[in-house]
Amino acid sequence: MDFIIVDNYEEMSKKASDIFVEKVNQKPDAVLGLATGSTPERFYELLIDAYKQGDVSFEHAISFNLDEYVGISLDNSQSYHHYMNEKLFNHINLPAAQANLPLGETEDLQVACDNYEAKIKDAGGVDLQLLGIGLNGHIGFNEPGTPFEQETHVVDLAPSTREANARFFDSIDEVPTKAITMGIKTIMQSEQIVLLISGEKKADALYQLAEGPITEDFPASILREHPNVIIIADKAAASKINK
Ligand code: F6R
Repeated sequence: MDFIIVDNYEEMSKKASDIFVEKVNQKPDAVLGLATGSTPERFYELLIDAYKQGDVSFEHAISFNLDEYVGISLDNSQSYHHYMNEKLFNHINLPAAQANLPLGETEDLQVACDNYEAKIKDAGGVDLQLLGIGLNGHIGFNEPGTPFEQETHVVDLAPSTREANARFFDSIDEVPTKAITMGIKTIMQSEQIVLLISGEKKADALYQLAEGPITEDFPASILREHPNVIIIADKAAASKINK
């Protein structure tokens, strides 16, 4: 696991967008794994800037998002489909047919999971996966206790995750209780992973990720067994680790 420690959120976002732009320039049909949440917001703005300045084209790229809530419609302003359209896809030239998210609003969730996993494999697997991390060590929506061997599956969101995400909803009762997420196995099959972590309140999570035991109780810890992971952390998040 390589660590890049930077001064602040802006620099973290810039380092990450530089890595993604370079990847797509090297391999125009790269398969990108994408994340939602607060952490990558500036990263997406910088990708859009790079596209608008003519530094990169996403015409041949393919994307797969990590996760989507179950039971809210795709155009609900809190769905991850909506987030990705607003924050990225509406502003770049990645064709809609090449942008994939799990389908959380469907009759047969298991079929949706199996189809998603198959589609990732058909695309040749993810070349470069972006991750954030939850306070409890979740990656995607793989909550503590998720078996490392799981592929794309339906999860019950941990109460702490629903509380953390309630800030985006009118009340906690509106936060979905389930989601579809790429599994840990799916994530670990990515060729390269970039995990972004920012802010003092994530310092304990980074400490556990970098120095704690590798355990299903802290899902992100498995990343230590992946051969090609870059952690980009700002100083505040890195304040408890020895790097
Ligand atoms: C989002 C995702 C989650 C987030 C994590 C951190 O697609 O899979 O694992 O990366 O919950 O969220 P933020 O960035 O809002 O702190």
